[in-house]
Amino acid sequence: MNIAVAAPLPHGPSPHASAGPTPDRAAYDALMQVMAQRSTARRFDPLHKIHDEDYRLILDAARLAPSGANTQPWQFIVITSGRMREAIAEQLTNEQRQRAAAGQGGGGTIDYGAVETAPGLMVVVADFRLSWAFPGLMNGTELDQRYHANAERVILQSVAAATTAAHLAAASLGFQSWWISVLGQEETQAALHKLLGVPADLTITDLMAFGRAAGPVTRRWKKSVADIASWDQFDMANFRSVAQIDAWMADVRRGTFSKKLK
Ligand SMILES: Cc1cc2nc3c(=O)[nH]c(=O)nc-3n(C[C@H](O)[C@H](O)[C@H](O)COP(=O)(O)O)c2cc1C
Repeated sequence: MNIAVAAPLPHGPSPHASAGPTPDRAAYDALMQVMAQRSTARRFDPLHKIHDEDYRLILDAARLAPSGANTQPWQFIVITSGRMREAIAEQLTNEQRQRAAAGQGGGGTIDYGAVETAPGLMVVVADFRLSWAFPGLMNGTELDQRYHANAERVILQSVAAATTAAHLAAASLGFQSWWISVLGQEETQAALHKLLGVPADLTITDLMAFGRAAGPVTRRWKKSVADIASWDQFDMANFRSVAQIDAWMADVRRGTFSKKLK
């Protein structure tokens, strides 16, 4: 699939950048092709089978991700059993039902039952014990606890880096993917731990479903480079007040996902 690569930066490069030789764009363009191709799908063609080699290629990309202190605190469980997929989908659907009953409407329109028919499925596991690899005081003081909490965030960021690499690798192979977070969903996490035999020392953070999308692929709005970048000092034009964020959230809740945060 060929997708046009992003237009040149609207504001050009940094005003302070020196005019250097034109870099070899070929690798960048190939990377951007994949970045632009990656898109979340939430329903897949169940007839398109995923091969072991697809998993191997995706995991080979995941393992190369950067991680805090090179801890590589990730594990991926490949789900091949239809019964396991069914049980996972059921768990996600239950969680969503319970959240809806508790008045947490977010994501209410998403059909997590579709995980059952996703031909590719992996469970992402984090080892937060590796936060011990980071410098800390190890004396239980409040400062030590703050160091520790920070190290755990770095572990989570690291797992996200590997997960992103996996999603991009899937995109490069022509698949669409679905990142499903189970963070903070204690019941679901506990049920998945039991189902998949994951030791209590580890934490299931996310699922990655992938395959060929059933139906048209949605391209979601993305901020422009100017929207996210400042040069030398924070550009207050990019700062959103709480009122602006509230207004944007109201739009999102009305389903206006294409609305820009302005
Ligand atoms: C950390 C993270 C958690 C996400 N969790 C969920 C999720 O629980 N359920 C879901 O349907 N999508 C989830 N997504 C997918 C996002 O909704 C999606 O990436 C976003 O809407 C942008 O669309 P795009 O991926 O097509 O660019 C998650 C994505 C990320 C990066």
